[in-house]
Amino acid sequence: MSDVTHLVGLLLGTEDDWPTAFEALVRRLGTVADGSGGQHAYATERVTIEPFSLRQGARHDLVIDRLAYWYFVPREWLKKVALMDDVYLLNSPFTFQAMEKHAAYCAMMRLGLKVPETVLVPYKNPVDHQKYVYTAARYNRPFDLEAVADGLGYPLFMKPYDGGAWRGVSMVRDRDDLHRAYDESGEMLMHLQQAVTGYDVFARSLSIGAETTVMKFDPDQPMHARYSVDHAFLEAGTGDEVVTIGRTVNAFFRWEFNSCETLVRGRDVHPIDYANACPDVAITSLHYYFPWAMRALLKWSVYCTVTGRRPALHVDTAPWFAVADRDDLSYEEKLREYRALADAHFEVERYQDFCDSRLRHVDAMVLEYVESADFDALLVDTVRSTFPAHEHDHFVAHYRGLLGQWAHDERARLSA
Ligand SMILES: Nc1ncnc2c1ncn2[C@@H]1O[C@H](COP(=O)(O)OP(=O)(O)O)[C@@H](O)[C@H]1O
Ligand SMILES: [Mg+2]
Repeated sequence: MSDVTHLVGLLLGTEDDWPTAFEALVRRLGTVADGSGGQHAYATERVTIEPFSLRQGARHDLVIDRLAYWYFVPREWLKKVALMDDVYLLNSPFTFQAMEKHAAYCAMMRLGLKVPETVLVPYKNPVDHQKYVYTAARYNRPFDLEAVADGLGYPLFMKPYDGGAWRGVSMVRDRDDLHRAYDESGEMLMHLQQAVTGYDVFARSLSIGAETTVMKFDPDQPMHARYSVDHAFLEAGTGDEVVTIGRTVNAFFRWEFNSCETLVRGRDVHPIDYANACPDVAITSLHYYFPWAMRALLKWSVYCTVTGRRPALHVDTAPWFAVADRDDLSYEEKLREYRALADAHFEVERYQDFCDSRLRHVDAMVLEYVESADFDALLVDTVRSTFPAHEHDHFVAHYRGLLGQWAHDERARLSA
């Protein structure tokens, strides 16, 4: 292969922190050699929202997206560049639109994962549409909400079938809560879901391509304190199960940048929310884990573009359901099969080889960046734009401490 420069597009919300870090790492990366001696260089570009011709070629080789779930112009642009220009997208916009939380629950239930019992109930207020009035009158039959809830048992969660950002999520403890939550749901389509009560720990995994990090999460904390630094909060087998579940979801739905929420109670791992493509990777949320996330985004982008990996845009249920439907396999045995399918999909071994042989300098480069004045300036700017003035000093010290701890641990790892 001859020498080539790859343009990586960033499709962003309001954030400035991680894109700045990612761009800095790309500038420091240098060129990467492929197997036949060709050199690959990288550039980045923040994608803006413009009118686009459906036949206009794309300049990007790969796009990292944190926006398209919420905005339809970029979402439709992603579909266009995937279909017309073979641009590599970390998350398939097709499956992500079609397979919201509801479909994701269904498919993973069929795979035998321990998703809590869930019932979809009809709209409280059917959508306001002329023709629908007649349809709803005939087919939106009265039903006994209390009986549905009794069947699941209290407490339960009422939440939108498509999920995202805790919109419309409520815990329902009794019949009063039930009616209140349902009345408030209005035109949102809702699930009722058994609550996983008294869980030991909330484990949230973030996957970027072939890499997964499992983090201890506390949803009751403010954003900056939800993830805590703890490397041994799960017993090894459970930790591996959480990784397998996250990777299975991602391989199944063709998502390569996604987070997966699981509640661990005793030896059981219950996945409750795992259609989170466009996950939050802010420095102020991930802190200690932020350098890992940036490094994984960098390495995976390089891996995909150098090796010419083809994105999988559509779901192929067959190999998964072939395992799911077998009566002779236990839950653990099925998980092993899913893990093998998922690791094959993500080319985990080949990716690791690639990182070892072509990207050996990257870990030290990321460490050097995180310890640089540039990174510190980014950290300070981010704190200033995120927190009120009287908290700036506190949070600058707080995040410097956490990233300093990462740098210390990373230095030890690299010299081991
Ligand atoms: N079945 C459940 N059992 C216990 N907690 C739950 C359950 N479902 C949701 N929650 C809590 O509510 C939060 C929001 O629900 P989630 O399904 O993640 O919605 P969203 O898609 O908006 O993030 C979860 O992070 C968790 O803390
Ligand atoms: Mg969630």
